[in-house]
Amino acid sequence: MIKKTTAAITAVGGFVPEDRLTNFDLEKMVDTNDEWIRTRTGISERRILKGEGLATSDMVVPAVKLLCEKRGISPEEIDCLIVATVTPDMVFPATANIACDKMGAKNAFGFDVSAACSGFLYSLTLGASMIESGRYKKVVVCGADKMSAITDYTDRNTCVLFGDAAAAVLLEPNHDGYGIQDSLLKSDGSGVAYLHMKAGGSLKPASVETVTSKQHFAFQDGQPVFKAAVKGMADVSAELLEKNNLTGDDIAWLVPHQANLRIIDATANRMGLSKEKVMINIQKYGNTTAATIPLCLWEWESQLKKGDNIVLAAFGGGFTWGATLVKWGS
Ligand code: UT7
Repeated sequence: MIKKTTAAITAVGGFVPEDRLTNFDLEKMVDTNDEWIRTRTGISERRILKGEGLATSDMVVPAVKLLCEKRGISPEEIDCLIVATVTPDMVFPATANIACDKMGAKNAFGFDVSAACSGFLYSLTLGASMIESGRYKKVVVCGADKMSAITDYTDRNTCVLFGDAAAAVLLEPNHDGYGIQDSLLKSDGSGVAYLHMKAGGSLKPASVETVTSKQHFAFQDGQPVFKAAVKGMADVSAELLEKNNLTGDDIAWLVPHQANLRIIDATANRMGLSKEKVMINIQKYGNTTAATIPLCLWEWESQLKKGDNIVLAAFGGGFTWGATLVKWGS
C-alpha cells in the first residue's frame, strides 16, 4: 500500500537581535509607562535590529543557517525558501531571493508572502502542499519582520507593541502521518481600515508629503483589531478542533500569535486549555508579526514530543487569520 505523504517539521531555527528596547526605555520616548504596557499587552521588552545596512534578510539568514546546521544539511540542499514578511528588504525583489543569495542556497527558488501576522501560517500551508505534491523534498518556511523599520517611535499607540525577529522551519516528506495535518485560513479585506501602512504602495507612492506626514509607518486602530482578533483567533481554533474531532484534552500545545496576552488568554479559554499548554514569550519579544509562531516553536522545541498535537493560531492585518494542526514528528 502506498502511504500518504505529509509534510513534517524536521528542524527549527530562530534569530533575535541583541539590542533590547524595554518598557522603561519607552517611558523616556513617549507618554507611557511600564505598568500600562504590561497590563494591556503583556510585553516587557522587545528586540531591535540595529546597524547600518541591516534588513529583514539579515535575520532570515542566521535563522535558516541554524536550521540547516541542526539538520546537518547545506543551504544548497534547500529546494524552496518562502519568507512571510510585511517588512521586506525592498518592495522587490523578494527578501527570499536576497536571503538565498546571502546564505548560498544556490539551488533554491524563493518568494515572499504578504499576509501580515498570519503570514507564517499561510506560508506553512503553501510549503506543506508543495511537499505533499511530491515535487519538493526540502522547503523552508520563514517568518521574519523588522517591525522597527515601520514603527513610529513618537506614537505610543503602536511603538510599545512591535519588535524584530525571524524564525524558520524545515518541511520534509513523511510517510508515517507526522507533520501538517490540517489548516483553516481566512481573510477579510474590509479590515484594511484598521491596520495598514498608508503610503509606499501603488496607491500612494512615496513623496515628500507622505514622508513628512508619517505615512510610511504602521497604523493601527487598536480596539477594532482587538475585538476582531479575540473572536477570529478563538473561533478558528475551535473550528479546527471540531473539524478534526479533537478537544482541548487532545492538544499538547497552543502556539498563538503574540500580539496581546489578553487575546492569547481568550483563545486558550475557548479551546479549554490550561495556561501550561500555551506558548507565551510576548513579554520578551513583543509582536514580531510573521515571526511570532516559529519563534515560539524554536524556543519550546526541546519540550516537544513525537506525536504531540499542536495548534498554531494567528490573527493580523488584512484582516487575515487562521489555525493549523501539526502532529510533531521529530
Ligand atoms: O498583530 C496584529 C494584530 N494586532 C492586534 O491583535 C492588536 C489588537 N489591539 C490591542 O492589542 C489593543 O487594542 C492595544 C494594546 C493596541 C491597545 O489597548 P486597549 O486596551 O485597546 O487601549 P485603547 O487603545 O482603548 O486605549 C486606552 C487608553 C487611551 O486613553 P483614553 O482615551 O482612555 O484616555 C489611550 O490613549 O490608553 C491610552 N494609551 C496608552 N496609554 C499609555 C494608548 N497607548 C498607550 C500607551 N501608554 N502606550
